Amino acid sequence: MFRNFLKNCRKPHGRIGRFVVKAMNIGHSSISEWGLSHLSAAEYRNILDIGCGGGANIERLLKRYASSRVDGIDYSEVSVEISRRKNARMLGKRCAIRQGDVSALPYDNEVFDMVTAFETVYFWPDIQNAIREVRRVLRAGGLFLICNDASDPTDDTWTSRIEGMRVYGKEELTDMLSNSGFSDIRCDINEKGWLCVTAAAVDGKGEA
Ligand SMILES: C[S@@+](CC[C@H](N)C(=O)[O-])C[C@H]1O[C@@H](n2cnc3c(N)ncnc32)[C@H](O)[C@@H]1O
Repeated sequence: MFRNFLKNCRKPHGRIGRFVVKAMNIGHSSISEWGLSHLSAAEYRNILDIGCGGGANIERLLKRYASSRVDGIDYSEVSVEISRRKNARMLGKRCAIRQGDVSALPYDNEVFDMVTAFETVYFWPDIQNAIREVRRVLRAGGLFLICNDASDPTDDTWTSRIEGMRVYGKEELTDMLSNSGFSDIRCDINEKGWLCVTAAAVDGKGEA
């Protein structure tokens, strides 16, 4: 039962998936707020939240950037359904939520000013390629924010229970980001081990 719950963190599915996604909307609120506290006062007009889960972070971003557009994407049908429900009032106005994989983002080059990824990069199958995809859809100077509550690759508490999960340390993420067209990479780890990484897309026509 518990394993089934955890499996649904990777790709929420069915009845348990719906429950997990709603639980994550509540359970992840502190780390999300902490992650967002790393943003400067800059405005971001077009924002994409990847692995949007139940859509709480889309809602948060829509509130924080009251005249911006915030889109979401997730490869789980259940996550997309719950995210759309949570942000129903904004859909078709300042928000669109699509089903899709980070490995092949269904967006044109250089269309977003910020991309966020909360508690999701652990599950991306080819993370280096995924980071290149993020770079491709970001405008030069755009910001990529990664926020994870696990940051120690040697700690297998979760990876031993969730198939396909991998924890990345700040050095590995920094290397992958700098190899994929990002600079000004900043990592913060708090006393709970939460990790927030921000990185700026360097100029290069979306091709790192
Ligand atoms: C642990 S949940 C986090 C959800 C949300 N970001 C939050 O903080 O509550 C991970 C989410 O990432 C999504 N995800 C995992 N791998 C993905 C991929 N390759 N492409 C798109 N979404 C993915 C899952 O479907 C799931 O909704």
